[in-house]
Amino acid sequence: MLVSITPHDLTNSESIEKDPGIKDTNRQGLFFVCTFLVTNTLVKKTIYREIMEPPCSFHPCDEAVIATNDDASDCKRCAVRLGYWKDDYIGFFVRNQDRKAPEINRGYFARVKGVEMCVEKFLKKTDGNCQIINLGCGFDTLYFRLRDTPHQVKNFIELDFPTVTARKCYTIKRNKVLLSKIHDEDGEVKLSPTDLHGPNYHLMGVDLRNIDEVDHKLQQAEIDYTLPTIFLAECVLVYIEQNNCKNLLKWIASKFSSAVFVNYEQVNMNDRFGDVMLNNLRSRGCSLAGVDACISLETQMSRFLECGWNGSRAWDMVQVYQSIPTPERQRIERIEMLDEGELLVQLFQHYCLVVAWIGELFQDIEITCVNVVEKRMSSLNID
Ligand SMILES: C[S@@+](CC[C@H](N)C(=O)[O-])C[C@H]1O[C@@H](n2cnc3c(N)ncnc32)[C@H](O)[C@@H]1O
Repeated sequence: MLVSITPHDLTNSESIEKDPGIKDTNRQGLFFVCTFLVTNTLVKKTIYREIMEPPCSFHPCDEAVIATNDDASDCKRCAVRLGYWKDDYIGFFVRNQDRKAPEINRGYFARVKGVEMCVEKFLKKTDGNCQIINLGCGFDTLYFRLRDTPHQVKNFIELDFPTVTARKCYTIKRNKVLLSKIHDEDGEVKLSPTDLHGPNYHLMGVDLRNIDEVDHKLQQAEIDYTLPTIFLAECVLVYIEQNNCKNLLKWIASKFSSAVFVNYEQVNMNDRFGDVMLNNLRSRGCSLAGVDACISLETQMSRFLECGWNGSRAWDMVQVYQSIPTPERQRIERIEMLDEGELLVQLFQHYCLVVAWIGELFQDIEITCVNVVEKRMSSLNID
């Protein structure tokens, strides 16, 4: 059953939450009967199924994976509160006020800035005639932050496990500020417990390992497979079993004619630091099921090429950090002193930004970098 919120409702979003009728209807679950592009889809489905890996269906640590969103959101909230970057929205999703270590805050700053730099380049190239798909979006606020800039996109789609999107939907529907960013004057916001649809914003619960379900959800969001599309995955693919991840990447490559994938996650995982990271996560019930692609920048890039993407580039986060304009780096380096500069370098060496593309849109992407370790240290201003 579909529940709509109209502009009138928006003038008092508290009343939406208190309306028992709406709440009950919400609980009834599924909505949206969508039109399928049957012929085209069937042909393509057959082709991609033939080259797909056997799917992995046993997922013992989904709960622990879902919990990683709380960690990421808490860390982003902490860094924002200290002034690392501006985000007027993350506080609506996260109440936790815990302070994190300076290394963590700088790590998140580099992560958010790195992804933002790619998104900005993409938006400039496409002049807003494009789509953004945030895979494993968690409580990320990019959509809301973009609304406060001149950049507009044709469609912004967010996907995560239903447990996560349900919490995000719940927060959005109770919050006038968030709702008003999704709404336009005449449009309406349609809600189910796990999904939310605005005129050009769609938040949907789905398991990314289930390609048919992903396809179905994207069609509900009125995806245009011919429009340039940027996929974002911040610490998401690493939690997906290798075969399932490859299936997803192959499927995207087979469906979209012009696409860019921005992947931020672990790299250089087969050293001592990587072992410690893996053991820590395992002790919390969370294995990194996709860690095989995180051995090196090469494995990160080749995964995309093996899955039918036309090209890829990868940088470790030392390089990404250095590509951030100096005044901006100097500004955030004054926020907190680092006790252990070496630890930050190690952290940065174990995360990376990978960009892959289909079509020609991003083949000239470059992040200026310096490769000498000494220079890395001094430019990080931590020696
Ligand atoms: C570390 S969190 C990152 C959240 C967000 N990208 C960010 O950076 O703030 C990883 C997210 O990926 C989601 N995720 C992992 N595997 C998934 C899957 N198979 N299907 C849907 N979401 C998944 C988790 O639920 C979680 O929200």
